[in-house]
Amino acid sequence: MSWRAFPKIELHLHLEGAAPPAFIRALSTEKSIDISKIFTEGGAYAFRDFQHFLKVYEAATCVLTTPRDFGRLTSAVLDTLAENGVVYAETFLSPEFCGGGDLHAWRDYLAEIEDAARLAESTHGLTLKGIVTHIRHFGPEAARPIALCAAETAGDFICGYGMAGDENVGRARDFAWAFDCAREAGLHLTSHAGEWGGPESIRDTLTDLRVERIGHGVAAIHDRALMETLADREIALEVCPGSNVALGIFPSFAAHPLAKLRDAGVKVTVSTDDPPFFHTSMTREYEALSRAFGWTETDFAELNQNALAAAFCDEDTRARVR
Ligand code: ADE
Ligand code: ZN
Repeated sequence: MSWRAFPKIELHLHLEGAAPPAFIRALSTEKSIDISKIFTEGGAYAFRDFQHFLKVYEAATCVLTTPRDFGRLTSAVLDTLAENGVVYAETFLSPEFCGGGDLHAWRDYLAEIEDAARLAESTHGLTLKGIVTHIRHFGPEAARPIALCAAETAGDFICGYGMAGDENVGRARDFAWAFDCAREAGLHLTSHAGEWGGPESIRDTLTDLRVERIGHGVAAIHDRALMETLADREIALEVCPGSNVALGIFPSFAAHPLAKLRDAGVKVTVSTDDPPFFHTSMTREYEALSRAFGWTETDFAELNQNALAAAFCDEDTRARVR
């Protein structure tokens, strides 16, 4: 069957990471910023491994210099999500890439992003919420103003706080101040963990940052007790199989632990992470999972139920999406 029209919920999507390469290239030409080396001859993003991916990602964000750029980007991303049947999405927003984490600039960027989200709600019936996210490898000090940006703009649209970037930099507890600040502002919490780190990274993140969800979390497959904890506490994993395969964490969808995590009782969900970087979309993820595991509508409906239960929106939104 075609999975395109099947209604989908996506919880783990980086806004800049969802920028089509043609969109970034057009902005680079418009602004005479030479980032040609981040593209292949065919026009895709070119990266060798995760560390290089992070560099290419940051280079691509260099051309996103104004609030209007982010408004246009948000609209382009939401049009693509709607084409792929996504009805509710949460996106990671990094003030570092929106005027450098300055609160005044951040409010201007956020206003454009929210305008685009409102437009998509009325034209596509697609709801978008934002999770302010600091970048781990920029360090704990740099995370503080980002958490303050999040706290100052917490509300209906900004409903969560998180951490992305290189998981091998520092320890989870180094970032506790930022997460405490966001929690006190009423924000829900998630963090990338167990993507590049092992089960200990997930444990530390749960203990020291007190998050409600884990981004990726696939390393839990190596630790039965941890899988039990995740299942018992209903900590949802934002699993991004296509991203993991593209970055070489697992050799194929068939070898991905998603089905085993689910069989262990863990609340798994599926997302795309940075879709154009990994040549994926929510439709492609569903197609690949259906091929790899024989999953049918019932299985995908369960993933969506998990995602909606773990979503950071308010109950009115949840009831509307259900
Ligand atoms: N930022 C964008 N994509 C990411 C990933 N897969 N892991 C960590 N940080 C990211
Ligand atoms: Zn991610």
